[in-house]
Amino acid sequence: MDAIRVRGGRPLKGEVKISGAKNAALPILCATLLADGPTLLKNVPALRDIDTTAALLRFLGCDVVVDKERHEVRVAATRLGRVEAPYELVKQMRASVLVLGPLVARHGRAKVSLPGGCAIGARPIDQHLKGLEAMGAQIKLERGYVVAEAPTGRLKGADFVFDMPTVTGTENIMMAAALAKGRTTLWNCAREPEVEELARILNKMGARVDGAGTDVMHIDGVEQLAPFEHSIIPDRIEAGTYMCAAAAVEGSDVRLSGVILEDLEALVMKLRQAGVTVDREGEHVRVRRDGPIKPVNVTTAPHPGFPTDMQAQFLVLMTRAKGESVMTETIFENRFMHVPELTRMGAHVEIRGRSAIVQGVDRLDGASVMATDLRASASLVIAGLFAEGETEVRRVYHLDRGYEHMEDKLRAMGADCERVKGAEG
Ligand code: EPU
Repeated sequence: MDAIRVRGGRPLKGEVKISGAKNAALPILCATLLADGPTLLKNVPALRDIDTTAALLRFLGCDVVVDKERHEVRVAATRLGRVEAPYELVKQMRASVLVLGPLVARHGRAKVSLPGGCAIGARPIDQHLKGLEAMGAQIKLERGYVVAEAPTGRLKGADFVFDMPTVTGTENIMMAAALAKGRTTLWNCAREPEVEELARILNKMGARVDGAGTDVMHIDGVEQLAPFEHSIIPDRIEAGTYMCAAAAVEGSDVRLSGVILEDLEALVMKLRQAGVTVDREGEHVRVRRDGPIKPVNVTTAPHPGFPTDMQAQFLVLMTRAKGESVMTETIFENRFMHVPELTRMGAHVEIRGRSAIVQGVDRLDGASVMATDLRASASLVIAGLFAEGETEVRRVYHLDRGYEHMEDKLRAMGADCERVKGAEG
């Protein structure tokens, strides 16, 4: 298993280009199932989750060509041989559940393995299923699989209120509604930029989706959707991660290209409160850290609140602060897996229920660490950037799910880091 080795202490300087958004690309790849014919996606990040989705689409019978160099993916969902997402693929990536809505909508039937729990929490999919049921689908659970069927072959438009804003739940029901008969109105929708991006491509395909980015959406179903060409928006979480990385090492001055700053407002406000300078400079965003870090409290919330996917990286920054800060996680119940590893590096963090109380310390010491989720792994790499001595972040296959060549991007900004192939697990 690969590891990333970091020797701390070097400020980050120079430029980093942000890749396409993983969490926008995954639902859009699944949306290709809604149309017959060739679709071209550009600015697709070269990530393990994209490979897993490509494997799933191939399993279903699509022709898929992934060109990592050009960051392009071509999909033709012309002849589907199966309507099933097997456990082997769903267990690798929960977002596989995003084929459920498109398959029932276009083929009247889908069989998708239940994802089960994962490192960051139980993560049920009851809202996905209730939404489909409201649209007339009959849902059965069979030997660990969800089987959804539209008895008349086509789903029908419905009114549905989500019990909580769920990102992939909203996306699944949007895709289902795009081909349903009649109008669907969804309340309490997730408002994440990735949901808006999905609405943009559905509309490009000929759907009629209105209200994405707000909590109420109207979707008028159409008979057929067309293939499309689209360039994916930049990854706000990757951008936020490099902002925190720069903020964590005194003397850093980096320019990020390909960032939509409006999608990162909550994070940027918190970084500024912490004493980090974040400026828009033409097409770039410049992040500078040249003074002490002030403690700032953070509570994660659905967009436009502070993203849960940035909590671990911000917590690491707070280990540098002069004083106490409190990170409260409201989205997932088990998202502090980075804390015991940071403690091993000398951080003072106490978990109390859903909060982590962080006392800033003067230094962290490098150590061998590992985490069992993507963002926690990224936070440990950031810790390594300023820790004394060497840090080895193990099991970086988690990191590779969501960050394209992180070690290369950091090295290009002057960090002393490298990938160690086949390190101890
Ligand atoms: N929830 C339910 N029932 C449902 C759906 C969700 O109870 O049917 C709960 C979840 O357990 C959680 C909350 O609702 O407590 C919100 O979860 P959500 O459904 O929004 O999460 P998700 O759609 O599974 C996406 C991202 C995650 C990100 C979350 C929250 C993708 C592919 N994944 O997950 O990204 O953390 O939204 O913003 O879009 C990551 O990239 O590292 C990552 C984990």
